[in-house]
Amino acid sequence: MFLDGEWSLCSVRKGVGMHIAVVGSGYVGLVAGACFADLGHDVILVDNDQQKLEALKSGQVPIHENFLLELLQRHRGRGLNFTDDLQQAVRASAAIFIAVGTPPTEQGEADLSYVESVASSISGAINGYKVVVEKSTVPVYTSDWIRKIILRNAAPPDSFDVASNPEFLREGTAVTDFLYPDRIVVGADSDRSASLLREIYAPLTDGSYYRRPDAIPQPGGSRIPPPLIVTSTMSAELIKHASNAFLAMKISFINAVASICESVGANVQQVCQGIGSDSRIGPRFLNPGIGYGGSCFPKDLMAFRAVARECGYEFRLLDEVMRINEEQRHRFLRKIRSALWTLRGKRLGVLGLAFKGGTDDIRESPAVLLVQALLQEGCKIAAYDPAAAERAREILNSNIEFVSSAYEAASGADALLILTEWDEFAALDLNRLHKQLKYPIVIDGRNLYDPGAMAVQGFTYYSVGRTAATPETQPGAVSPSSRKLKKS
Ligand code: UDX
Ligand code: UDX
Repeated sequence: MFLDGEWSLCSVRKGVGMHIAVVGSGYVGLVAGACFADLGHDVILVDNDQQKLEALKSGQVPIHENFLLELLQRHRGRGLNFTDDLQQAVRASAAIFIAVGTPPTEQGEADLSYVESVASSISGAINGYKVVVEKSTVPVYTSDWIRKIILRNAAPPDSFDVASNPEFLREGTAVTDFLYPDRIVVGADSDRSASLLREIYAPLTDGSYYRRPDAIPQPGGSRIPPPLIVTSTMSAELIKHASNAFLAMKISFINAVASICESVGANVQQVCQGIGSDSRIGPRFLNPGIGYGGSCFPKDLMAFRAVARECGYEFRLLDEVMRINEEQRHRFLRKIRSALWTLRGKRLGVLGLAFKGGTDDIRESPAVLLVQALLQEGCKIAAYDPAAAERAREILNSNIEFVSSAYEAASGADALLILTEWDEFAALDLNRLHKQLKYPIVIDGRNLYDPGAMAVQGFTYYSVGRTAATPETQPGAVSPSSRKLKKS
């Protein structure tokens, strides 16, 4: 049994924050650690990847996230340190956040082996009351297993609690999502662990962080201070899976509606405006495209489906969400084929390789999966992505050229494909683009342009959930032939 005073000495420095360990310095752990440091806490970031640790210690930032470089520069060596010594980090901390990967197994379940190995390492280093916090996305009942593992390794039952604190970070906006969340969810089964987590987030929930002159700027539309919702650990685990499943369902729903729009000649953007104006639905996450990707939705839906089945519930709705998502990519490939007739030998300009705009992450990227399919069809590809090209180069090697601008990608191409919703792709110089293309054909998987406007500019423009637009169908459009004459 540890006296209250004992654990408080090692946990709360006079007048400043708490001692926190974050295990796993990936997208989630690194952002959480940097943000906890910005709240004033003393953070030790643990990772077993020496290369990653050396890069972080030397000031490099391994991922593309707004404000992350600024926070790391602000706190590295002061409120934020890096180590591979998990046990030392545990001994020095009051709260240990587990943010290691939870990748899918062959069967689609979450591989929790990394979580388990971290939990067993933690138990050998408990030198005072600790709260072990699940930050990674984990199936419901994981907190029970973490508790069992720590107890099996002979930690005294009252020396720790396990809590759940799921993250709702979107890549590309992860820092602002952490500091300006819609809500903070704390799953705790004891008052002691709940109060310790309240204390960690106090600078946000009491609003003091936002009054600091050096606070990270508030994004539009965010609400401060955020509410902190305390639930049971199981409910918190379910909140994470259910949130991601609902968001993915919203995307598959609008992609299915887009397919119906294409069949009848309706305009999915108009449909989105009409349904999104209903405050119960809302306009966000209703952008049709080539399907969702990333390291979370695909994995979390499979894991949620698997854990529901284990708990005796056949969550077939998720099967349909995943099926529609796969189908969306095949539909887009058919659209490319219908626009170009034959694909073999065709030169295609590709804009975007990341799974979404604003990030360098290509995990489960629908853009990369489409490029791989097109390469298999014998296409020649010139691809441009503002941040993800280096990562894509590691897995795409034959018949693809990586170029450094959208216009280079379009040069001499039979068509231009837009596969990732980078802001810069929505603001191209269309005159210049038209001159670069061999044929003025744009196939837009992210609906970044208005079909009529593109046709007026002389393009044949295909998109998702809207009918194709061609110069011939638009009065006053610049016809391709007149442009060709001008070019020659
Ligand atoms: C991952 C999951 O993808 C996400 O669903 C979950 O919510 C949090 O963990 P991410 O940060 O993207 O998110 O994981 P990843 O980029 O794989 O980083 C995990 C880090 O943990 C890596 O740096 C890895 O080196 C490290 N790690 C992994 C350890 O330090 N110890 C381990 O035992 C395993
Ligand atoms: C998601 C959740 O949003 C976040 O809350 C959770 O913590 C992690 O998973 P992320 O995967 O980083 O975040 O990106 P997100 O912005 O959700 O986009 C996911 C995928 O859906 C991307 O491929 C994106 O292009 C696609 N998408 C998103 C759509 O196709 N349409 C939309 O309207 C929104």
